[in-house]
Amino acid sequence: MTLPRQPSDEEIGHAAELIRAGKLVAFPTETVYGLGANALDAGAVARIFEAKGRPASSPIIVHVADIGMARTVVAEWPASAQVLVEKFWPGPLTLVLKKQPVVPNLVTAGLATVGVRMPANRIALALIEAALVPIAAPSANRFMQLSPTRAEHVRQSLGRGVDYVLDGGACTVGIESTVLSLADDVPVLLRPGGVSRESIESVIGPISQRTEATGEAHLSPGMHPRHYSPQTPLVLVHDGQVPSSGNGAYLQLQQAPLRAVKRLIVMPASAVEYAFRLYSTLHELDAERLDWIAAEMPDDTSEWQAVRDRLRRAAGNALDVTR
Ligand code: TXA
Ligand code: MG
Repeated sequence: MTLPRQPSDEEIGHAAELIRAGKLVAFPTETVYGLGANALDAGAVARIFEAKGRPASSPIIVHVADIGMARTVVAEWPASAQVLVEKFWPGPLTLVLKKQPVVPNLVTAGLATVGVRMPANRIALALIEAALVPIAAPSANRFMQLSPTRAEHVRQSLGRGVDYVLDGGACTVGIESTVLSLADDVPVLLRPGGVSRESIESVIGPISQRTEATGEAHLSPGMHPRHYSPQTPLVLVHDGQVPSSGNGAYLQLQQAPLRAVKRLIVMPASAVEYAFRLYSTLHELDAERLDWIAAEMPDDTSEWQAVRDRLRRAAGNALDVTR
């Protein structure tokens, strides 16, 4: 496999200038590509919502280059935040904390809190450092679609909606960050992701978890059941019970399929490797215009929590062709 050419310092500098000028720049992070704008510029952030077709009720994560920059956007920095970032930053952990007035309400969908994270990606960090401002960035895809893990996914989904794309090759984690709220007394896991619940609890003790989308869905639109979906209907199956009609692909873990399928894909047995492959596999299969994609549901253990969450959401708006 040949590695893509990495953006030069000049290209990163140019992208940073565009951010400072209120433009949109897509950039790689370790999780998925982000669609970035100056987090302190409400006009620039408004363009993110436009480009994604995203409702203004969805708050956007603010990306920072270091702890100092994080503290310029949050009003409180509890001890739990400090120990967590010492352990997991840079990395796929977003902390939700009380916000500073400097963060426009549009970024936080009117909430009194802001999600902040320091991505573990050299290009992302260089971009934020050169821009000299925190960068607000949701995943760089149209609302409800699959998240992009390669630059070409961004171009396919957003086209001219984005002013510049920094191509850093494939994202190494492959699914979105864990979102953890520290805004109240008890920490709440709002979205499982790249950092497991267990590893968070090993640092700050027991946390609680919000499981299903509620009336307050705006609190964490990542919790919306219809998120991260391919165009092709996705069904979750057990024991190889793939749909009996049509052409499909089967994402297999251990079980052999009971019926012939057009495409059989053996997915990694490790949750980390599976996450790395998940979106890129779904993007590839989506391009094949199959009748369905069936995925074998991994075991209900903590290491698989984030993958199971994304599989369930990806299947959320799919027709159940097994019926
Ligand atoms: O890995 C990631 O988190 C990627 C990369 C680009 O950093 N970003 C991402 O952004 O997945 P997005 O917009 O697709 O998802 C942001 C998640 C949503 O679940 C949102 O509700 C939650 O973060 N979030 C952001 N700010 C929040 C806040 N103030 N309160 C509660 N949840 C918040
Ligand atoms: Mg997203």
